[in-house]
Amino acid sequence: MCGIVGYVGLKEKKEILLDGLKELEYRGYDSAGIAVIENKKLSNFKAVGKLENLALKTKNYLSSGFGVAIGHTRWATHGKPTELNAHPHLGEKSFVVHNGIIENYQELKRKLQGSGVTFVSQTDTETIVHLFEYYQKQNMQPFEAFEKTVDELEGAYATLLISEVEPDTIFFAKNGSPMLVGFDDKDIYFASSDTPIIGKAKEVYYLNDGEYGYAKDGNIKLYDKNGEKTFTKQPLSKDKFTAQKDGYRFFMEKEIYEQSRVMSETMMGRINGNSIHFEELDQEFLNGIDSIKICACGTSYHSALASSYLFERLARIPCVVEIASEFRYKEPLLDKNTLFITISQSGETADTLEALKMAKRAGLKSLSICNVDNSSIVRESDKTILTRAGIEKGVASTKAFATQTMVLWMLSIYMAIHRKTISQDVLTGEINAMIHTPKALLVNDELHTKIHRLSKRYLHGHGFFFIGRDIFYPLALEGALKLKEISYLHAEGYPAGEMKHGPIALADSHLFTVALMPRTMHYEKIKSNVEELSARDATILAISPMPFDLADDFIQTRYDSHPMLEFFEMMVITQILALEISIRLGNDVDMPRNLAKSVTVE
Ligand code: F6R
Repeated sequence: MCGIVGYVGLKEKKEILLDGLKELEYRGYDSAGIAVIENKKLSNFKAVGKLENLALKTKNYLSSGFGVAIGHTRWATHGKPTELNAHPHLGEKSFVVHNGIIENYQELKRKLQGSGVTFVSQTDTETIVHLFEYYQKQNMQPFEAFEKTVDELEGAYATLLISEVEPDTIFFAKNGSPMLVGFDDKDIYFASSDTPIIGKAKEVYYLNDGEYGYAKDGNIKLYDKNGEKTFTKQPLSKDKFTAQKDGYRFFMEKEIYEQSRVMSETMMGRINGNSIHFEELDQEFLNGIDSIKICACGTSYHSALASSYLFERLARIPCVVEIASEFRYKEPLLDKNTLFITISQSGETADTLEALKMAKRAGLKSLSICNVDNSSIVRESDKTILTRAGIEKGVASTKAFATQTMVLWMLSIYMAIHRKTISQDVLTGEINAMIHTPKALLVNDELHTKIHRLSKRYLHGHGFFFIGRDIFYPLALEGALKLKEISYLHAEGYPAGEMKHGPIALADSHLFTVALMPRTMHYEKIKSNVEELSARDATILAISPMPFDLADDFIQTRYDSHPMLEFFEMMVITQILALEISIRLGNDVDMPRNLAKSVTVE
């Protein structure tokens, strides 16, 4: 996801920008650029791909002496990753960088085009710089023009703008996307998170939504809708590793909290009115396809399994899911009319990659759902849909699972539309639920505190069963996997209706059952399954919107208007439960024993 760095001062600017952007690399990006004004002269460099490409392009450029500079790493959303779409974006005399989405950019763009402005990129960002110059040409002072520009922007943004018309100033604004200002004597820094300025600035001010202003003469002027404001700087942390965690104790915790936001990125540009659009796919690609086979490992396998219910139910297409390491050696029968889908966070999992190669050799069309662009699986696939989760650092996957499931859900609807198997009413209900997903993923303090408190009961015992039905069965598998990975306690996911066919023999008060009891999916059936366990004295932790008297512990969910909203809310609860149990047991949450983030061996 995008990153911003800015600097006003006397130091060599290229190095400050490139160093700072390097610190933001972990967020993921597909192009980068910088712009500097020095001696009233603008210089600008952009490159697609890694920062090394930008470093190569700027090899012979040095900027000594006073100047202003802005830099950006871009994760493509509006428009492909090209140099033209990379930031900073140029007007006639000004440059802008921006994180977030300008929701009304099309309306603003039309207005500007009507007054003769030519746009060269497909981005929403370019609107900001043209709007600024438009007002500036109407005899407004530069700051007045900037203020007027910010006033017209709708959506989420953090933006920096520099202009030859005021070459010693950086204009800034923040609303919904993070941005901070660093201070060191007369030097001023900007960044979208602390790491680029740690070791450079001594003090920091974290901008609040709705704040904007300008940096000049070694200080900033800060405003919001009520006019000029005072602000208090605070000392800046010196520890980069801690800073990257943004105040959370573990990367996994940070990534759980991030899910609500990244889900919006996953959906961005893909929900189109009452329809689903993937610029990565065309309908021709799906012509002739009459079944789906999905291969994946671990958590990715669980998202695949959940989606198989959706493909069959909504798109009425047969869908078989296989564990990649099993698929490779079973001498599978492959049909050319089957779409072969691989799912992988890293894009490097050896078993999944080899399964994909086998399918390609057999002449199947291939589609990967992946979080890492240019990874081996992406390069090997005919088509790819990126999940846009941003880099996942915790070994136990959280936001990757959430975004994979979302892409698969969207894909099942996309195929349902293509295959004409969905009514307008159902379609409207699905899209409406998708749009509300970020809300269902929000973690509130009350919920986290509750899970923290009840987790102390679940540190011992002789094992956990996570049980669910339908899509909640794969979620039960995933909940159990999360718990065993980071707590080292034995946990199994099971279809609730299967318990009586064997595992119920284990039931006693030391058997912990985490029951996923959604209102919208076979509630009465799962209720009887849980009652059977309760009658045998199993300890029950029920997760449901409906109060359940037999539960020893009960977590009440809130979003029960659609199964997928229930799915995502329960997913977050199981993730936090695993996290809190692991913390109580004193384990290394982010780097659990024996596990690696990317499994590139068979
Ligand atoms: C569990 C986890 C693993 C991975 C599996 C596949 O938290 O992360 O089970 O899901 O190793 O990895 P990817 O998705 O990178 O192919």
